[in-house]
Amino acid sequence: MTVCNHVDGDCGEADGAVEAEAIIGALMTPEGRGEPYRLYAAAHELGPVRKVGAYPMHLCTGYAETNAVLRDGAFGKMEYENFPEEWRSMIAEDGAIASFGQSMLEMNPPNHRRVRSLVSSAFTQRRVAALEPAVERLTDALVEELAALGEGGAPVDFMEQFAFRLPVNVICEMIGVPEADRYRFRPLAHDLTFVLELTENFEGFGPADAAATELRAYFTELAERRRARPQDDLVSALVQANDAHDGRLTDAELLGNLLLLLVAGFETTSNLLGNGLYLGFEHPEILDRVRMGKVTVSAFVDEVLRYDSPVQLTSRIALTDDASVGGHPVARGEQIMVLIGAAHRDPGRFDDPDVFDPTRRDNVPLSFGAGIHYCLGQGLARLEAKVGFTKLLERFPAMELAAPPERRDRLVLRGYETLPIRLGPAARR
Ligand code: HEM
Repeated sequence: MTVCNHVDGDCGEADGAVEAEAIIGALMTPEGRGEPYRLYAAAHELGPVRKVGAYPMHLCTGYAETNAVLRDGAFGKMEYENFPEEWRSMIAEDGAIASFGQSMLEMNPPNHRRVRSLVSSAFTQRRVAALEPAVERLTDALVEELAALGEGGAPVDFMEQFAFRLPVNVICEMIGVPEADRYRFRPLAHDLTFVLELTENFEGFGPADAAATELRAYFTELAERRRARPQDDLVSALVQANDAHDGRLTDAELLGNLLLLLVAGFETTSNLLGNGLYLGFEHPEILDRVRMGKVTVSAFVDEVLRYDSPVQLTSRIALTDDASVGGHPVARGEQIMVLIGAAHRDPGRFDDPDVFDPTRRDNVPLSFGAGIHYCLGQGLARLEAKVGFTKLLERFPAMELAAPPERRDRLVLRGYETLPIRLGPAARR
């Protein structure tokens, strides 16, 4: 969800700034990405908001402050149009950053309002609720496939066979992507979302740009087909808005938002399913209580979102001269890294923040963000997680980890590459 988090400048001496810089540096290493929580704990020692070295950058880790920055109109996105010329010269014109830059995720008002209201008309509570039978049906089918694959104790990769397939099918159903095209998206989305990671420069974006080119070509063609024969889906609705030529949606915005919806629609939800199942295996007594209905699936999901958030950070820049958070001023144009994953472990907000406890009270995770960019698909993601975990626990009461999982080497979108499981005897349907 960040487009650019470039660290570039000299070291500084402000109070805690050197330490904050070291923490950001450590978060950009494979070790830091793999185990960020001890770095977040060190960041909490520095206070809720800190300057980062002498860079035009700040680090926000407090829960209240994270919530405040996300809701405060004095902070917003660095819009693609306003990137410094030297950045633009390093970025592929039709690449991944440019594509996300044309999506609502990277826009400020008034553009954000215009584009979001168009797309959100397809995301009404009613529409999401109407999808429930489809989510149930898809989940049932995937659970049966899992049962067949795992027969006789064969290990099954939960990420590939379930955590990816459920959300990709749901979002594609909504967008209007034909079934045969869906399974190619996992590697493409993985490559594309690399540009959301913390990076020191624009290097290594080749695969992300290639994925953006492929996805844009795919959606251009799909949009053409819907233009010729509209259907009751999101692509048709957006194509119609685009064709009205009334300034509601440009060609580039049409593609940028379709790309965003596709990857935002499944990468994050896949990680919620994977992170949650793994936490369940780590805490079998909790999983038993969820299975017996003593802890609700929703409470379990909320605690997964808090404890191991599928989105760990986002960023904003100060849009005004008087922006501040928690009494800490942020000069116009300076960046603030908003560490959602750290806010969830804020000891000032959560008792025993490092303990996984779905029975904790007043658990309001910020995993879906807050304010004007509040996740458009949160209702859908929650629905998928609820139906998914409920049916998995019902059907496979003895499922267990078959081998150690492999984490993706990513900080921002945190999840597993593989999660091998053994299903055990399946309960009767
Ligand atoms: C567990 C699953 C999910 C998580 C953790 C998640 C997280 C987030 C977060 C943190 C943001 C705000 C980013 C920011 O403020 O910079 C966001 C925005 C967004 N999400 Fe999600 N998301 C999830 C699932 C989904 C799904 C299923 C969809 C689509 C069906 C979706 C579509 C979007 C869109 C379109 C935005 C941009 C909203 C805007 O900029 O106004 N997300 N999401």
